[in-house]
Amino acid sequence: MSIRLHINIDHVATVRNARGVAYPDPVTAASLCELAGADGITCHLREDRRHIRDEDVKRLREAVTTVLNLEMGATDEMLRIALATRPDVVTLVPERREERTTEGGLDVLGRRDVLGRMTGALREAGVRVSFFLAPDAAQIEAALGLGVDQIELHTGEYCHHSGARRAAELERLGAAARQVVEGRVALAAGHGLTRANVGPVAALPGMEELNIGHAVIADAIFLGLDRAVRDLRGAIERSVGARL
Ligand code: PXP
Repeated sequence: MSIRLHINIDHVATVRNARGVAYPDPVTAASLCELAGADGITCHLREDRRHIRDEDVKRLREAVTTVLNLEMGATDEMLRIALATRPDVVTLVPERREERTTEGGLDVLGRRDVLGRMTGALREAGVRVSFFLAPDAAQIEAALGLGVDQIELHTGEYCHHSGARRAAELERLGAAARQVVEGRVALAAGHGLTRANVGPVAALPGMEELNIGHAVIADAIFLGLDRAVRDLRGAIERSVGARL
């Protein structure tokens, strides 16, 4: 099974917003990623709108021809926007205003009611629901109980460490991946992945989708977006090929 590669274009908007001008346009970036073979486009509408803005989400909905995955916090405001925009998928993520990027996974055990209500409302509207979770058995079990369509495992700890600690984090990801697959829910992963570290995550049995943003936009500064996406795809396919 080939793995879907979704490119997160948030940081094109970060560069745009640094100058308060209209370029570079994240919607143009999304189209170029699709032309380079991306299977989907991911964006994160944060509460503080530090990169993607409401208007970007509307324009992405019109322009994206593959799959639009909207990452958002579990708030009533975001639910209203998602129901009005109808992305193909909503990924619910934890969000703290002061964090630099998404830290940790959702607390499904602590917020079961809110997350269950949002999952129901989105699925009823025909939007698939993915939860962004740390590789934690209790959180995954709680998410499976809420009837989610997909679980995206947080790979940040794996990416930020090396040596024995990285190997241990990969084992945790492997165990979590087995639990998700046995729960008959689609398996995805993301956060901190690069051409250099994506291989072992892509090779986890059952992996269906990877969401990658910062590293591919960083590569694009030097290589161009088309080559950055294609090189990333190559790195994923080499590791999946090695798994077979
Ligand atoms: N997946 C989720 C749920 C995220 O919140 C993010 C960061 O916005 C990513 C993937 C992409 O992470 P990165 O930019 O480190 O590749």
